[in-house]
Amino acid sequence: MKYTAVLVPGDGIGPEVAHATCSILKAANAPIDWVHCLAGVAALDAGEKELLPAATVAAIREHKVALKGPCTTPVGGGFSSVNVAMRKTLDLYGAVRPVRSLVGVPTRFDNVDLVVVRENTEGLYAGIENEITKGVVTSVKVATREACLRIAEFAFQYAAHRNRKKVSVFHKANIMKLSDGMFIRCAREVHDAKFPNIAYEELIIDAACMRLVQDPTRFDVLLMENLYGDVISDLCAGLVGGLGLVPGANLGEHAAIFEAVHGSAPDIAGQGIANPLALTMSAVMMLNYIAEMHGDGALAATATRIRTAYDLALRDGCKTRDLGGTLTTSQFADAVIARLG
Ligand code: NAI
Repeated sequence: MKYTAVLVPGDGIGPEVAHATCSILKAANAPIDWVHCLAGVAALDAGEKELLPAATVAAIREHKVALKGPCTTPVGGGFSSVNVAMRKTLDLYGAVRPVRSLVGVPTRFDNVDLVVVRENTEGLYAGIENEITKGVVTSVKVATREACLRIAEFAFQYAAHRNRKKVSVFHKANIMKLSDGMFIRCAREVHDAKFPNIAYEELIIDAACMRLVQDPTRFDVLLMENLYGDVISDLCAGLVGGLGLVPGANLGEHAAIFEAVHGSAPDIAGQGIANPLALTMSAVMMLNYIAEMHGDGALAATATRIRTAYDLALRDGCKTRDLGGTLTTSQFADAVIARLG
């Protein structure tokens, strides 16, 4: 079987880590034909009129699966996030970010294995901001019962499917009684009605952060709204060695975009030293997603071969600079390729 997927390299380190990842997939004979598309500043630089060209959205709609590098968003002004726009336009409402300890990457805890599930379409990321009068601005946090129920259902389905034992909801419903209040009520409702055998807890997010850094091993699936999910994903990345190690998927009913949790890392872009692993891990998630969709056992085996190869590379001490090593992006990719079984 042969499959087509859209490749959006993105900005900053995006093209570098995308190139390394594609070289690993090619060496593993992953049966993927890439449809190359642009988004972000890279699109404007290539002469496109829009940060998110209609052709890119149409290609993802058509091929249903994309691997995407990070896109830059300016701070405190300028254009709105292309990443957020993509998720909303394609209704990719569920972000899944698996965080696990890796042999060869020593951290305070060596058995972290949790998954952040983030609602991707609402919350403060709805982008409704107004200057009411000079010096007074508002940001509107949007929560709909429909989206809260949908992401709760998604998180519990995910937990059940992966044999995960517990879902912890992080919230601030003591302060945001209506929005976060609805989020936890919906999660509770879905749990009680459909997934009573999965353990369930609700934690106020500030205390949850303390517990996460004290002992992340007590957590399994974490469910939260958009902004909290964004912040907690990076916190969790820090628990297992950094942003170079955490992949992600943005999933909807009609399309899926796989991308690392990290951004375009302008501080190291163009130097060939970025860690490509988070995007490679995202590509492995993509292969498993396609394999599951098509019942393709051989493709699932290819995904496992790549995962085993990068696990071995790390175990053997092959590391990029962010992990204390000296390898360049392409040298790390070569080290993975050399270990493909
Ligand atoms: P960032 O994740 O790009 O970088 C944070 C720090 O981690 C930097 O020191 C960077 O060098 C390091 N880092 C990140 N990925 C790395 C990798 N693969 N290998 C080695 N080191 C790595 O976050 P930052 O600086 O807050 O954002 C930079 C830009 O990226 C912003 O424009 C932001 O909006 C955008 N961004 C895009 C995302 C996306 O496309 N999904 C997600 C997060 C941020």
